[in-house]
Amino acid sequence: MNAQDELKIRDMEILFQPFHSRKLSTPTRIVLPAMTRGFSPNGVPTDQVAAYYKRRARHEVGLIITEGTFIDEPSASPSSNYPNFFGGASLRGWKKVLEAVHTTDCKIAPQLWHVGMARPFKGENLPNPELPPIGPSGIDVNTLEQTAEPMSIAKIEEVINAFARAAADAKRLGFDGVELHGAHGYLIDQ
Ligand SMILES: Cc1cc2nc3c(=O)[nH]c(=O)nc-3n(C[C@H](O)[C@H](O)[C@H](O)COP(=O)(O)O)c2cc1C
Repeated sequence: MNAQDELKIRDMEILFQPFHSRKLSTPTRIVLPAMTRGFSPNGVPTDQVAAYYKRRARHEVGLIITEGTFIDEPSASPSSNYPNFFGGASLRGWKKVLEAVHTTDCKIAPQLWHVGMARPFKGENLPNPELPPIGPSGIDVNTLEQTAEPMSIAKIEEVINAFARAAADAKRLGFDGVELHGAHGYLIDQ
C-alpha cells in the first residue's frame, strides 16, 4: 500500500470517531440526510419505518435526519403516504421510530416540512384535496404563474406556530433535535 492510499484510509476513519459538541454528541460522524420515502399510509409511520431507521442506526450512522415530515397545516403535504408530525397516531408512530433508534447510541432528528406552492392542485393521494396550495406569493413553482392568493400575515403566523408545535412535540417525545426543511423550493425557501 502506498502512502497516498494509507492517507485516504486514515481520512475515512475519522468518520467512525465520536463527535462532541455542547448540545449534541454522536457515536460517529456519519449523518443520514433527509430522504422522503412514502411508506407511511395516512401519514402514520409504520413498524417497518422504525425497522428501516433502526437498521441504519445499528450500522454506524451517528445521526439520522428523518425523511421530511409534515407540520399541522392542512395543505402542508402533497401525499398521504408521506408521514405527518402531528396527531396521536403519527406521533405514536414516530415515538416507536425514536425508541427503535435509541436502542443504539445513534441520534435522531425529524425534518419538519411544508411544501408550500410545490403542492399540486390534484392528485391521487393528495390530503385535503379541496384546499389550494399556499405560499408567500401564490406563484406556482413550476409554471411561475400566480395560482393562489399570497399568504396573509395571519396564515404566516399559523404556519410558524405549527412549526413550533412540531418542534415542541419532538422535544417532548425525546428526539435529539429538529431540522427545518428550508431548501429545494419548498415553503420556507419560497
Ligand atoms: C430519494 C431521495 C429523497 C430525498 N428527500 C429529501 C427530503 O425529504 N428532504 C430533504 O431535505 N432532502 C431530501 N433529499 C435530498 C437529500 O437529502 C440530499 O440528496 C442529500 O443531502 C445529499 O446531498 P447532495 O445530493 O447535495 O450530495 C432526498 C434525496 C433523495 C435521493
